[in-house]
Amino acid sequence: MATNDMETRRAAVVILGATGDLALRMLLPSLYFLHCEGHLAPESRIVCVARSAQPGATYQERVKKAVQARAGEHYDEGCYAGFAARLSYVQADATKPGGLAPLCAAVEGCAPVLYYLSLSPTQFVATFQALKDAGLGTADARIAIEKPLGRDLASCKIINEAVAAVVREEQVFRVDHYLGKDTVQNLIALRFGNALFEPLWNNRGIDHVQITVAETEGVGERWPYYDEYGALKDMVQNHVLQLLCLVAMEPPSDLDAAAVGAEKAKVLRALRPITQAEAGRVTVRGQYTGGVVGGAAVPSYVEERGAPTGTETFVAVRADIDNWRWSGVPFFLRTAKRMPTRRTEIAIQFKQVPHSIFGPNQLLPNRLLIRLQPEEDISLTLMNKTQGGKLDGMTLRAMPLSLSLAEPNMRRRIAYERLFHDALGGNRTLSVGREEAERAWAWVDRISAAWREAGEPPKPYAAGSWGPAGAFALIERFGRAWND
Ligand code: BG6
Repeated sequence: MATNDMETRRAAVVILGATGDLALRMLLPSLYFLHCEGHLAPESRIVCVARSAQPGATYQERVKKAVQARAGEHYDEGCYAGFAARLSYVQADATKPGGLAPLCAAVEGCAPVLYYLSLSPTQFVATFQALKDAGLGTADARIAIEKPLGRDLASCKIINEAVAAVVREEQVFRVDHYLGKDTVQNLIALRFGNALFEPLWNNRGIDHVQITVAETEGVGERWPYYDEYGALKDMVQNHVLQLLCLVAMEPPSDLDAAAVGAEKAKVLRALRPITQAEAGRVTVRGQYTGGVVGGAAVPSYVEERGAPTGTETFVAVRADIDNWRWSGVPFFLRTAKRMPTRRTEIAIQFKQVPHSIFGPNQLLPNRLLIRLQPEEDISLTLMNKTQGGKLDGMTLRAMPLSLSLAEPNMRRRIAYERLFHDALGGNRTLSVGREEAERAWAWVDRISAAWREAGEPPKPYAAGSWGPAGAFALIERFGRAWND
């Protein structure tokens, strides 16, 4: 990633939707850390915007509590005082015509100004218009919008057109917070900083790829949002497909956003559309019933939702990339809520040796495991002779060669720190390009349509299990097994 020197001018970060959960839990704590580490230019401001009237002191108190909760042992009162001095609160309704006029005074003289829309995507278009009406869509403006960018391709296009009417594409940051995670960036380093993997990184060296994003959390109070999206649109359209792109893309010519974005878009373009006839064989959707997670009884999604619903909380898909490199290599994608453990990982399974000289059943294929969560870790499983033991024959076992990223006492960054830093510095390498967002929707829309046509409810699975039986049948149908 090209490092950008921070702007020395007085910048401003404007958080629209500043009383929401994302702003308090992630965005403001990330800015706090950027402040503490000296990444914000001295006079830079943080302007918090929301509809409700919040006396300054009350809001400051809420932010402080949120930062303390997130920072834990890394909280520093002195540092917070400096951070708090940058904060201001503006009451404004971004969805009303002329609603952002009260913001103008707060950002006057600042450049660049990053407008972060921590809002529902249904409010994006009106907010772009309000920014334009208030004369804030200047050449120094940067607009950050976060997934989900719409609910389907058509609504995503409307958002993209609307933002293009206010600023140029180079000023738009489409945030996918997975791209801000260190291990995700390390995937780029691993692939393109080492000569070792490239000769094997294709359908001659790799048998299949698995991408799993498993969460123990349920949907809980987020159901009004989640019920409209489901796991396919909430996770696969964005985070999971972005991980797939980083695994599958061709080497870009450099780390420029356009070069990286073009390669990712090519992967999405090569994704084989899933037809209605195929959907039953290559996709599974599920919904959790009550169960036990982490030793505690948890309710079903329907109980949380308060009424029966056809929204899926589990998805498994076999994806195929129709190009020379990946032809014949299945990508098994899986994401769900209420799984037994939190686990986000990419498993690259290499091909088995062509002939074993060690007797039957001794060899396991090499596997590169890239773990994003809960711990960040990369390991390569190699076959190794066991030490000691019998003198006759050779006993082999699979041993992981670990490239653990964790350093003792090192604070794990919030993904948004990197994304804010890049957006303020004008670096869009980790931003999702317009074409990527639209192509990802096009692929996902086909799956949604197939499910709609089939009209089948999601398969139930007990909270705390690894999903419905169909998910195991799916991967076994193709002669593989999940890496559980
Ligand atoms: C969000 C989804 O984008 O990512 C949530 O809307 C999900 O449903 C979350 O829980 C997972 O993010 P992370 O960083 O905790 O893996």
